[in-house]
Amino acid sequence: MQITLLGVPSVTRDGERAVLDTRKALALIAHLALSERPRPREALCDLLWPEHDASHARGALRRTLSTVRGAIGDDGVQASSDSVALQRGPDLEIDVECFRRLAAEGASTDDLGAAVAQYSGRFLDGFALRDSVEFDDWQGIQAEVLSRELGSALRRLVAGLVQRGEHEPALAHARRWLELDALHEPAHRELIRLHALTGDRAAALEQYRDCVRTLSRELGVSPLQETAELYEQVNDGSLTPPAQAAQRPPAASGSVPAPLQLPLVGRERELAALAGAHAASRPEGRLAVIEGEAGIGKTRLFEELARRAIADGAVVLAVQCHDDEAGLPYGPVVELLRAALRRTDSTDEAWPAAVAPQRLADAALLLPELAALRPDTPAPLPLDGPGARVRLLEAVAAVVSAACAGRSPGIVFFDDVHGADEATIDAISYLSRRLEGRALLLVVSWRSEAVQPGHRLRRLAVDAARAGTATIVSPVRLTQDEVGALVQAARPGTPEAGLQRRVYLESEGLPLFVAQYLAAQAGGGTPAHDGLPADVQGFLRRQARRPRRGRPSGAGSRCHDRPLVRSGHRPRGERPRRRGARRGAGGVAGAGRRPRGRRIRARLRLLTPEAALAGLRRDEPRAPATAAPPHRGRPVEGRRRRRARRAGRQAPAPCL
Ligand SMILES: Nc1ncnc2c1ncn2[C@@H]1O[C@H](COP(=O)(O)OP(=O)(O)O)[C@@H](O)[C@H]1O
Ligand SMILES: [Mg+2]
Repeated sequence: MQITLLGVPSVTRDGERAVLDTRKALALIAHLALSERPRPREALCDLLWPEHDASHARGALRRTLSTVRGAIGDDGVQASSDSVALQRGPDLEIDVECFRRLAAEGASTDDLGAAVAQYSGRFLDGFALRDSVEFDDWQGIQAEVLSRELGSALRRLVAGLVQRGEHEPALAHARRWLELDALHEPAHRELIRLHALTGDRAAALEQYRDCVRTLSRELGVSPLQETAELYEQVNDGSLTPPAQAAQRPPAASGSVPAPLQLPLVGRERELAALAGAHAASRPEGRLAVIEGEAGIGKTRLFEELARRAIADGAVVLAVQCHDDEAGLPYGPVVELLRAALRRTDSTDEAWPAAVAPQRLADAALLLPELAALRPDTPAPLPLDGPGARVRLLEAVAAVVSAACAGRSPGIVFFDDVHGADEATIDAISYLSRRLEGRALLLVVSWRSEAVQPGHRLRRLAVDAARAGTATIVSPVRLTQDEVGALVQAARPGTPEAGLQRRVYLESEGLPLFVAQYLAAQAGGGTPAHDGLPADVQGFLRRQARRPRRGRPSGAGSRCHDRPLVRSGHRPRGERPRRRGARRGAGGVAGAGRRPRGRRIRARLRLLTPEAALAGLRRDEPRAPATAAPPHRGRPVEGRRRRRARRAGRQAPAPCL
């Protein structure tokens, strides 16, 4: 007989799932399964029927025991007049015991791997007794304890794998470790280190940013010194993959799948418009805008443009703006200058010679290393003198245009400018208005709903489009056929119309969701469980939290170089239609029936049960990061609060 309590509970006898008529019967089995010794009948009565008097409770226990016997057999239960126990023996397998055996102190790395694989979900996931606060409390405590044990097993497993040099599998387990508690800084640090050791510096830096964001949002504190130092090491390149990295074995099965690199679909017009803008960027530079909702493929579209342009001999400098760094003036501009500086690493790169020494000196105010590029660089002019700001912006423009000069017009890309600080937006505006005579395509992307109609970047784009010097593309959701093509590409040779339709319906045509569903499938899991990488879960969480203005961008003109940015200004024929109508017969079922926020929240719960419960943390006392307990799953809800909630006084609102 097998008793499964991790994840959705079930009891299997001789390969057949036992039917338990009442919740109390399952609760009793779960409780006995975790009790090493026989439990007094009185204690069981208090636990399961707290509101009954003694004789009614004993009667109810007798009846429940007979239900349990009916399901698991007479020999499954050992009952005396005083106590009750499950009949232990080689025929009884309880997944919690199995997990604990494998994860015991001193367990080998392989056993720890087996233990965490055994842990397939929260303790008694989705199960609750409606009328016993005592049982609820017991269940909450067990879930919490087990979650901590899982955290401990994952920590030791990650350490063991790192010691064996198996960084990729370690990374997957470290992600799961962090998922248990997004505030757990050691897990963040491990992920930063592992990303760096696997050669993914960008992911390591992003992990640090995620750590900063999470700690600041949830606790109002900054990372520990140790974490900040690690970031510095990654940033200055002193933490890099060991030489043998290339010979490492591939990730173990069961690890979190890496996102799939799918072929680009449905973006021919947008790509053609951008490529056209690039080709037309000489002798006068041009502006291009990629706007759309999160996950629609703005970055991907740019990457495709960049790939083609680089093949044509263009130099591309690209930076990402992060909204949590909006307090750092010129942050993305400094990154851009750093990208320019990196180009000088190749010996044939002589762009600094094309920049006036004073400009280089002024730009060095933002990135001091630039001053060393020429021996004749003078001291920068004082920053407080007249026109100092313009000089600084001009210096940035001069350095950037020189650094991306090449056979074909250079490309400068600011991704997600809605997250940029004001000073960076000044620099973008300045450059975009001074593209005359610079063979340069300045590309910016923004999330449509984050850039309001009156925003100066939008006005700037509209003005430039009106003047014929800007191209605006607005990628829209994928059609059913396009999603089908991606499913085909991810699973070649298996024409699965059902799967194609399911992915289409589930993803609602949003490329990000399509990519992640397919990645989860390729990883062997179902997306409904732990197949999603932590960063995507973070993304989804942020998505679900973000207040939305109206409907996400719909279909419409995909590319335009006239000022038609707002859908309300689009010509009649190009106006977004209702989403159901837009996709014809294969329209998104249910789209429009439920608000999108709710749909995402519902999907989130499906994807990450832990994530859905994260909101409960809001009610916990805020502690400094260092004082936080090492692992927290769902906090155990206090009895009083639980009663209050039942009485409908105050429902704790998950923030997802
Ligand atoms: N047209 C497309 N065809 C195939 N995959 C796409 C497409 N657009 C985006 N993707 C994939 O979807 C995911 C999200 O895209 P991304 O460019 O990051 O979105 P955004 O920048 O708009 O938030 C990425 O994995 C990307 O490769
Ligand atoms: Mg992007």
